[in-house]
Amino acid sequence: MKMLPIGKTGLEAPALAIGCMRLNKLDKPGAERFLKTALDLGLNFFDHADIYGDGTCESLFAEALGLSLSSDLRERLILQSKCGIEKRDGHIIGYNHSKSYILRSVDAILKRLKTDYLDLLILHRPDALTDPAEVAEAFDNLKNAGKVHHFGVSNQNASQIALLQKHWKEPLAVNQLQLSVTNCTLISSGINVNLANDAAIDRDGGTLDYCRLNDITIQAWSPLQYGFFEGSFIGSDRFPALNHALEEIGAAHSLSPAATAIAWLLRHPAGIQPIAGTMNTAHLRYLAAAAEVTLSREEWYAIYLAAGNQLP
Ligand SMILES: NC(=O)c1ccc[n+]([C@@H]2O[C@H](COP(=O)([O-])OP(=O)(O)OC[C@H]3O[C@@H](n4cnc5c(N)ncnc54)[C@H](OP(=O)(O)O)[C@@H]3O)[C@@H](O)[C@H]2O)c1
Repeated sequence: MKMLPIGKTGLEAPALAIGCMRLNKLDKPGAERFLKTALDLGLNFFDHADIYGDGTCESLFAEALGLSLSSDLRERLILQSKCGIEKRDGHIIGYNHSKSYILRSVDAILKRLKTDYLDLLILHRPDALTDPAEVAEAFDNLKNAGKVHHFGVSNQNASQIALLQKHWKEPLAVNQLQLSVTNCTLISSGINVNLANDAAIDRDGGTLDYCRLNDITIQAWSPLQYGFFEGSFIGSDRFPALNHALEEIGAAHSLSPAATAIAWLLRHPAGIQPIAGTMNTAHLRYLAAAAEVTLSREEWYAIYLAAGNQLP
């Protein structure tokens, strides 16, 4: 399995991470089978969030793997979770980066995951009321208590990260962003700089380059989805040209179309770590093969264009 450095943490992680947002689709035996397959494939980086299944995804994960505070398995896993989206009675009531909320959330995450530390904690979405000095205090507290080893953010732009780094002096390790070939304004705005077309609109303040400049690993969430959770573009009749390109180029490398879409993300020199959301062991086996393939420049651009993205 191709490995990637995660920020400046010194951690080396598989190029493909496993997203656990949909884990509660499975029953316990199904989750056991799925997680065992992942580990057999060398995929030991798991992305969680406290809100996935309102905590049930984290609990099921720990139960299915038989995690406990004394479990030898824990050290073989890289566990990342997120907090900061506040829910009440199943509904999102706002975002919350207050110190007390972060500390409380991490304690609950650790309890559900049956572990005494997270390798990475990331803030799920920007909170308009964030006081970065208070976040830094929370991070400091968690780090000193040994509850979290490294920190990151999600869905944040370059200046939001810079603002947090003004107060939190350790380098943030990751920025998790929505990124797939059909959702790639992060990349396409940099190809269309200064043009009077929509593709030139910089929606994120140069976040891709900022993360590269600062060695922050970009994790791509929903790498096979179009829109905001509208569905997978794989096999979708909304994307005939893209599916044709993924099939044809994938066949040349013995990859499935979905794996080819993952290989497209991995080909970018930023060292992007896609987070796969499949809960299907066969799909996962196909996707893992993407890490062994490097698409050519011509193939990368052919897929980019087939998804409807523009070159000037
Ligand atoms: N930071 C954030 O704000 C944020 C937001 C959303 C998600 N995330 C993270 O990103 C992870 C991935 O998100 P996602 O689940 O939307 O990602 P995804 O990998 O783009 O989508 C997975 C979905 O696509 C389906 N799919 C259809 N055909 C497939 C194929 N051939 N191969 C693989 N999957 C196929 C899967 O179904 P099957 O299970 O049947 O394969 C599954 O329902 C989440 O688990 C979570 O950890 C983060």
